Amino acid sequence: MTMNNLFTPVQFGEIQLSNRIVMAPMTRSRATVTGDLVTDLHVEYYRQRATAGLIISEGTQPSRNGKGYCRTPGIYNKEQIAAWKKVTDAVHAEGGRIVCQIMHVGRVASQLNKESDAETVAPSAIMAVGEIFTEQGMKPLDPPRALTLEEIAGVIQEIRLSAANAIEAGFDGVELHCTSGYLPAQFLATGSNQRDDLYGGSVENRCRFALEALAAMADEIGPGRVGFRICPGHPFNDLHDDDPEQTFAYFLAQAAQLKLAFLHVIRMPSTGLDNIALAKKYYGDALIINESYDAAEADKALADGDGQAVSFGRLFISNPDYVRRVKDGIAMADMDVKTLYIEGPQGYTDYPFAE
Ligand SMILES: Cc1cc2nc3c(=O)[nH]c(=O)nc-3n(C[C@H](O)[C@H](O)[C@H](O)COP(=O)(O)O)c2cc1C
Repeated sequence: MTMNNLFTPVQFGEIQLSNRIVMAPMTRSRATVTGDLVTDLHVEYYRQRATAGLIISEGTQPSRNGKGYCRTPGIYNKEQIAAWKKVTDAVHAEGGRIVCQIMHVGRVASQLNKESDAETVAPSAIMAVGEIFTEQGMKPLDPPRALTLEEIAGVIQEIRLSAANAIEAGFDGVELHCTSGYLPAQFLATGSNQRDDLYGGSVENRCRFALEALAAMADEIGPGRVGFRICPGHPFNDLHDDDPEQTFAYFLAQAAQLKLAFLHVIRMPSTGLDNIALAKKYYGDALIINESYDAAEADKALADGDGQAVSFGRLFISNPDYVRRVKDGIAMADMDVKTLYIEGPQGYTDYPFAE
């Protein structure tokens, strides 16, 4: 039996990766202030990183209500699709692959970051305690309005269309963001979901929204082009679930029936849960694993069968040629945190390639 490492090709559903180094999704707040469009700067940023076996785009809203942070891109109208097409063409021209991360923030939003008629919606009218960056400084998160049953069907329809739009924009697939306290995670967790209808209460009901959203995406573009991202127990954005292990055991076992392309799982030992073991047990293989890996630990994890690929976030920010640096044993450059979310090329497209 040959042991896999970061440079062994792998297939996730219909997406063929030339190596197992995945660029993790990262919000960088460089989209246009009006219109939520990616720009030539994004084309350059993603093109520089196209040697990754797969790029997962920054979180991208499927609707105006899905936006919460400033300068995040959308994928719900013709202009946005056309703008993204330049990015995917550039990545493909370099031989890379790219999927679009569909991120609906739900209650993690400030009105200051979105269009004046966009609303902040959630499973229940329960505010997340926390602050969010806006152009006017840090502001408290908005109180959300609870979605009606009819509106839930509407949001699932928006997510379905975002998958179709991603394919039209040339993406190789989509990843539904189901962690970090955003809308699908808000439905999964007992603290943020206190509905007493089909979408709340029992574990089956709390998982219904995310499962229906994934099924709609799979129906729209084929299951082999759909993935999703989880981090059971993640308390980010004031998320709390009474029993994340039970929630995810059910959620993953049901999602496995959909025969999707991949599950992207973030480990988080501080929660007391072994998320990778949980994913293996209830979902199976086709796992992209993440969080604080370096290449050596990632190679070992692949050889041990912990996952089928490893994603790297921060290392890809400061090392556009991360893949080559790993291959040739070149030292990694450090990331500058001050330029993570500013506008313009600084700290975005100006990290040098190794000699
Ligand atoms: C600047 C920044 C922005 C991020 N934005 C997103 C995002 O939009 N969607 C997401 O799922 N994760 C996001 N993350 C989390 C990363 O995908 C990844 O899980 C995290 O950086 C841990 O991986 P690493 O240790 O390899 O950096 C972000 C991380 C960073 C550093």
